[in-house]
Amino acid sequence: MIYITIDGPAGSGKSSVSRELAKKLGFKHLDTGALYRAATFLWIKSRKELASQEFLKMVKSANFYLSGDSTLYMNGKPLGEEIRTVKVGKVVSKVAEVPEIREIITQKAREIANGKRIVVEGRDIGTVVLPSACVKIFLTASVDERAHRRYEDYKSRGVSVRFEEVVKEIELRDKIDSTREVAPLKPAKDAIIFSTDGFTFEEVVSKLYSLIVEKMKQC
Ligand code: DC
Repeated sequence: MIYITIDGPAGSGKSSVSRELAKKLGFKHLDTGALYRAATFLWIKSRKELASQEFLKMVKSANFYLSGDSTLYMNGKPLGEEIRTVKVGKVVSKVAEVPEIREIITQKAREIANGKRIVVEGRDIGTVVLPSACVKIFLTASVDERAHRRYEDYKSRGVSVRFEEVVKEIELRDKIDSTREVAPLKPAKDAIIFSTDGFTFEEVVSKLYSLIVEKMKQC
């Protein structure tokens, strides 16, 4: 097994970069944000108290599975747009703040990754979920660049939103994600910190690919 972790803040381009790197390396890909979003989707549907035993049991018993092409399944169904709605986006950091939920999702992510050659992306993968990973990358970018990316993403999905609102959303998410008590967003001590400012997507992928291939020789 070979683990490559990619952590970083919202809108750093982590997901598309991770997916492309996994493809180039012939590795599987896991987006742990999707696990938190799936738990949030379950919570909204269940109408239970957030840290209630009933809800925690529901998350614990959810069956996550990664298919051959790295599609994430929950309870036999592929996860799609239902976990990417504005409604889920608004409350997911609240769900991700609950220590019991983090514990369950961390365990699920480890089980999915176990024994695989896999790129795992999130916020605490190099620090908490897979601290023994072979290569750790912390991807970052300025608030302005990240807001532009998220804004374009919303527009392409037909979501009407003002740019200033997106800047506020990014700043708020950063604050919540980096100041929470359990597993805050921060680079692992042995992570390569990479800022995407000023680079095209292709340049970022190509530079990181070379770095990873070089680093993997030492694992
Ligand atoms: O990457 P994303 O926006 O889909 O992540 C959704 C939320 O989940 C976001 O608030 C951060 C949180 N998250 C986390 O706390 N830890 C992870 N490993 C992955 C995501």
